[in-house]
Amino acid sequence: MPPIDWHVLGPGAIGSLFAWYLADAGLQVRLLTRHAGESARLITLEHQGHLDKGHHDTRAFHVDHHDTPIQRLLVTVKAHQTETALHAIAHRITADTLILFLQNGMGAWQVAERLFPDSPCILGTTTEGAWRAADHHIVHAGRGETWIGSLQSRWQPQAVSVVRQWQHTLFHPHHDDNILARLWRKLAINCAINPLTVLYDCRNGELLDKPTALVQMKAICAEVEEVMAAVLGVPASMPLLELACDVARKTGANQSSMLQDYRRGQPTEIDFITGYLVQEARRLGLDVPENAAVLSAVRQMTQ
Ligand SMILES: NC(=O)c1ccc[n+]([C@@H]2O[C@H](COP(=O)([O-])OP(=O)(O)OC[C@H]3O[C@@H](n4cnc5c(N)ncnc54)[C@H](OP(=O)(O)O)[C@@H]3O)[C@@H](O)[C@H]2O)c1
Repeated sequence: MPPIDWHVLGPGAIGSLFAWYLADAGLQVRLLTRHAGESARLITLEHQGHLDKGHHDTRAFHVDHHDTPIQRLLVTVKAHQTETALHAIAHRITADTLILFLQNGMGAWQVAERLFPDSPCILGTTTEGAWRAADHHIVHAGRGETWIGSLQSRWQPQAVSVVRQWQHTLFHPHHDDNILARLWRKLAINCAINPLTVLYDCRNGELLDKPTALVQMKAICAEVEEVMAAVLGVPASMPLLELACDVARKTGANQSSMLQDYRRGQPTEIDFITGYLVQEARRLGLDVPENAAVLSAVRQMTQ
């Protein structure tokens, strides 16, 4: 049997999408799920946002519950699910296991840094869009860009090697030697839009029609810009408010992932988005009252 290239931890919307296209490019992929009795999974992928719109494909995947070491691990559980998910497979992670986090928000990878300090840990961010229409039925809703890099220079070669390996996949990812700045830019947009969509229970674009939401967005953006400039050491190249309004307009009909989780009554990633921002602000001695208020309001609504 050829060696397994990737184990995907958390094959939900984005994990299944990546598993699907890595396998499509000829890579050996195994799924890691939280369902003990599951040995195989059929994943149906529906193309919605690009060329063969409406087309369905189904592919079979092995679910791996063995105890053998894992070579490359793609982590696609939600940020708040990371700790439990990694603990369950900790005995399979060695100093040679490459761990790639592909999640929104910040801070979940610190679990891996704490549990497996010797394993190479790299980070990715993607604007590919996917959602679950039903169990194991994934809709690829929109094409996007994928960027991969490492926070530590010693693991930059591993990030480059993944980018090279994935050149044959649909994603054609790019390497970013300053992945932290890229993740912060995504975090900043998420801080400006996602919590407000929960507080106003509305789609992204509807925020732009609500004067009070816009006032809040302006205050959130000013605080985020200050924290981001302190963390990255450079001011933002474009006003965040302008960028956030542009994203809200372009994704106007979308429900943010935080709003989807809230409407389904599931935990949200607020602690890894606004929560992370507030935590970093405190560490740096900066005051972020609007973000702190939004964090506490969303926590109250989603507990
Ligand atoms: N969806 C997108 O378009 C998109 C785009 C960019 C980034 N992201 C980010 O990608 C991450 C995943 O989002 P998603 O939309 O793919 O969420 P999702 O559909 O909820 O997928 C998460 C998956 O993790 C599984 N899981 C949870 N705990 C687990 C455990 N202990 N062991 C193994 N599997 C476990 C869940 O299993 P069950 O099926 O049993 O619940 C689910 O299949 C998030 O950080 C999100 O912000 C998503």
